[in-house]
Order: sequence, then C-alpha cells, then structure tokens
Amino acid sequence: MRHFTADYVERATLRDGTPVVLRLVCPEDKPILAAGFARLSPQARYARFLAPKSELKAEELAYLTEVDQEHHFALGAVREDGDGKGNPIGLGIARFIRLPGEHATAEAAVAIADEAQGKGLGKLMFLRLCAAAAERGIERFRCEVLGSNTSMATLIQKLSPERSVHVGGGVMSIEMPLPNVTPTRPHEEPAPEDGGMYALFRAAAENLVEWTHAVTRFWGRHEDSVDDDA
Ligand SMILES: CC(C)(COP(=O)(O)OP(=O)(O)OC[C@H]1O[C@@H](n2cnc3c(N)ncnc32)[C@H](O)[C@@H]1OP(=O)(O)O)[C@@H](O)C(=O)NCCC(=O)NCCS
Repeated sequence: MRHFTADYVERATLRDGTPVVLRLVCPEDKPILAAGFARLSPQARYARFLAPKSELKAEELAYLTEVDQEHHFALGAVREDGDGKGNPIGLGIARFIRLPGEHATAEAAVAIADEAQGKGLGKLMFLRLCAAAAERGIERFRCEVLGSNTSMATLIQKLSPERSVHVGGGVMSIEMPLPNVTPTRPHEEPAPEDGGMYALFRAAAENLVEWTHAVTRFWGRHEDSVDDDA
C-alpha cells in the first residue's frame, strides 16, 4: 500500500504559522508553477537550475507537471489560505526523476519560494520525497547542488550523513542513500531510543558508565563517523 498516491493530502504549519497543504503535482498546476517561478528570486532560480533562468517555457511547464508519479515524481506545497481571494499560492516543489539505466537512483531537487525559506518547508518536502521514492524502489538520490548552497548541503548531510560529494565546476554532485523515514514522521531525528546521546544519558542515569568517560566516547565516535569530504 502506497502513501503517496493521487489522493495524498497533507496539512502542515511552517515555523512562522503559515498553513500549507502538500499534494502531488498534476497537469492543472501549470499556472501555479509558472506564477511561483516568476516570484522566485534570481538567486533561488540559479540555485535550483544551476544556470540563469528568466522564464519557464510551455514545454518546460509541461515536462514539470505532466509526470507519471512513478519514474518522475513531483510533490507540491501551496498556502492553505491562498492569496485571500481564492487563488492558490505555490510555496514549494520537490521532485525526483529516476536516472535512465539506473533503476534505484534518482536525481532529486527542491525549490522553496523565497518568502517560505528557512521555515522548515524544504526539509519537510525533502523528507516526503525520500519516503515517496523509497515506496517506488529508489535507494539513492543524486542532487546537483551549487557549491555555495549551504542550506541544501546541510539538509542532505543531516538526513544522510553517509552521502558522498564530488565537486566540479562550482557544483557539488551529492549522492545519498535514502534515509529510513516514514511517510508521516514530522522530522528525521532518530527516535530517542536509537540516538547516541539518549543512550549516553540513559547509561549515565543508570550509573552504567562514568559520565566524563562516556562524553569523551560519545564525541569521539561522533567525530569519527562524520564524512567530511565535502
Ligand atoms: C535549499 C532549500 C530547498 C531549503 O529549504 P528551506 O525551506 O529554506 O529549508 P528548511 O527551513 O526546511 O531547513 C532545512 C535544513 O536546511 C539547513 N539550513 C537551512 N537554512 C540554513 C542556513 N542558512 N545555513 C545552514 N543550513 C541551513 C538546516 O539543516 C535545516 O534544518 P534544521 O531546520 O533542522 O536545522 C531552499 O532554501 C530553496 O529552495 N533554495 C533555492 C533552490 C535550491 O537551492 N534548491 C536546491 C537545489 S537541489
């Protein structure tokens, strides 16, 4: 049973209180996508498309909205209350496209409207994208990320610390194993009983380990596990 089907609808509230609705993109979304792209800053467009881009042509709008939701999957987020006059306002879009000849790998990208950035939407959409991809047999995402794009690189690094990064021409090509996320979990933090810090607190509380020794061990292990080849 899949979670991300045509009738999937999810409501969420961003950190500033903005109510959003997530759902799959459909061909009728072309005007929302075009308007969202027009509002996007040149910097955000460049970060998403890795090139200056002033408009989305009709064939590009068709490509981005007429998707099979299997090999090319697209998730959209709109303001739940629209523009106050009944018109929808697109706030974000996340998609993956399965790479030809690589059944288990897909290229993934996210774009969040400038006014909605930094409020948790990109992370939520990327988590949902991961869960939808896993449902479709994808095991890895490849993301082409501008070298200066700290927020996207950090988001990926936090979700999938085992990711590998190759840098060339100012662009990071990041390949990440999909994190083990459920379709409904609000965020990716490990469940308390899985977390190293939780285990440390529990062990200390139970007097199973000496506290300072445990702290040293925790941070030592943590540092060892960080892949810093970015
Ligand atoms: C990159 C982008 C998708 C992030 O989405 P967002 O909604 O702004 O990010 P969120 O608020 O969900 O933050 C997600 C994570 O990014 C990281 N992050 C966000 N802003 C950051 C910043 N200024 N510096 C470092 N890390 C940052 C954090 O890890 C954060 O997780 P946390 O809140 O748990 O700490 C969004 O800024 C965007 O669309 N940018 C333009 C297009 C683009 O760059 N697309 C990516 C190409 S694949």
